[in-house]
Amino acid sequence: MLINLVVNGIDAVRAGGSVALTARRVNDAGRPRIAILVTDTGPGIPPDLLPRIFEPFFTTKSEGGTGRGLAICRDIVRAHEGQIQVDSKVGTATTFTIQLPEAGRDAR
Ligand SMILES: Nc1ncnc2c1ncn2[C@@H]1O[C@H](COP(=O)(O)OP(=O)(O)O)[C@@H](O)[C@H]1O
Ligand SMILES: [Mg+2]
Repeated sequence: MLINLVVNGIDAVRAGGSVALTARRVNDAGRPRIAILVTDTGPGIPPDLLPRIFEPFFTTKSEGGTGRGLAICRDIVRAHEGQIQVDSKVGTATTFTIQLPEAGRDAR
């Protein structure tokens, strides 16, 4: 899942930029969660495309895109009772945030 997101980030910053990974503990209405953020400084995702990026086989890549990566990420996250969301500002940055239950607590 993380490889999919990092490779998407690297694809996005092909012309230069950075991809950063951050992890932190968060509290979601009293439930301890782990948040993992993958941020890139690429071109961003136009708002009209945002609702489609998790669809299987949706890709904007003319070469080497399968459009399967984010659909698989979403399936993996859901299988672990997590959530994935995206924030993107065209021309600035894109951040995918994954939230997962903290292992050993509600992850049983
Ligand atoms: N970090 C990103 N920056 C800009 N666009 C992105 C990013 N991640 C995903 N996308 C968009 O979402 C589409 C679907 O991504 P994905 O499911 O991983 O398929 P693929 O990488 O094979 O195109 C990409 O083609 C691209 O348009
Ligand atoms: Mg991909």
